[in-house]
Amino acid sequence: MARRLNLIAAVGLLVLACISLVAADKSAGCGKNPTIKSQQYTIQVNGKQRQYFMKLPDRYDKDRAYRLVFLWHQLNGSAQKIVNGEDPNRGGALAYYGLPPLSNNSAIFVVPNGLNAGWGNQGGEDVMFFDQLVKTIEADLCVDTKLRFSTGFSYGGAMSFALACARPKDIRAVAVLSGGMLSGCAGGNDPVAYYGQHGTSDSVLNVNGGRQMRDRFVKNNGCTPVSPEPQPNGGQSVKTVYKGCKEGYPVTWVIHNGDHNPSQVNSGSSTPFAPANTWEFFSQFS
Ligand SMILES: *[C@@H]1O[C@H](CO)[C@@H](O)[C@H](O)[C@H]1NC(C)=O
Ligand SMILES: *[C@@H]1O[C@H](CO)[C@@H](O)[C@H](O)[C@H]1NC(C)=O
Repeated sequence: MARRLNLIAAVGLLVLACISLVAADKSAGCGKNPTIKSQQYTIQVNGKQRQYFMKLPDRYDKDRAYRLVFLWHQLNGSAQKIVNGEDPNRGGALAYYGLPPLSNNSAIFVVPNGLNAGWGNQGGEDVMFFDQLVKTIEADLCVDTKLRFSTGFSYGGAMSFALACARPKDIRAVAVLSGGMLSGCAGGNDPVAYYGQHGTSDSVLNVNGGRQMRDRFVKNNGCTPVSPEPQPNGGQSVKTVYKGCKEGYPVTWVIHNGDHNPSQVNSGSSTPFAPANTWEFFSQFS
């Protein structure tokens, strides 16, 4: 009898453990009727007016905890250009970096606008912008606070890297597309799931810089370094999934033979590979 009760208790505990594993960490905005819409907003950060766009999923459900995905533009870009998209055949990024069609309405997108069209992050002010956006958005919308992501091309990759360094507890994963270390790295000693891609012919931000950024998280995440350095296979990109990383902190690296380009394609394909790679990387977490 006692043994049976123990068994029942054990099964009960197991069920509870499973429930807590799958349950989302819901933000304060869950269950509330939202006031935020898919449009442009302004907030005051550090005494400066900052602009950003929001994009909510279709049929937003106030009880569903969504992913929150930050999209940072390149130097001389703008939030508006990310919202509109630019010609991928002329080195532009697709609208919202091509992610909404892949996301099956599981994500809320945030597109911040940079001061001086970049992410200089003077005194950490762009990281403060991020902090304030998280607070403002999550007070109003239903977000899974364990599922925040960040991506961007070039300076936008630099900003995603800066967040991985400075806010490792707040960011589940980043995707750094042809990035450089332009927005700093305050902290930078904790693991964050890391996707990086870079071209060996990058004439703006050399591939070696991208490799150094990646290697910081190869180290932080406890992955086994890869040697020799992976090379593209002609016009085909080569994807390396690092081994030995701490559970939940993968590193994936894609090397291609192209220039500084968010919309690089593999030879024989007309579809940029960054969106699918990024979404595959982000959506492995739930
Ligand atoms: C950035 O934009 C400014 C003004 O539109 C232009 O003069 C400058 O050449 C651009 N810089 C780059 C790197 O594209
Ligand atoms: C898209 O999301 C809906 C609602 O959550 C789900 O029922 C459906 O299976 C998803 N479709 C795909 C292709 O994942």
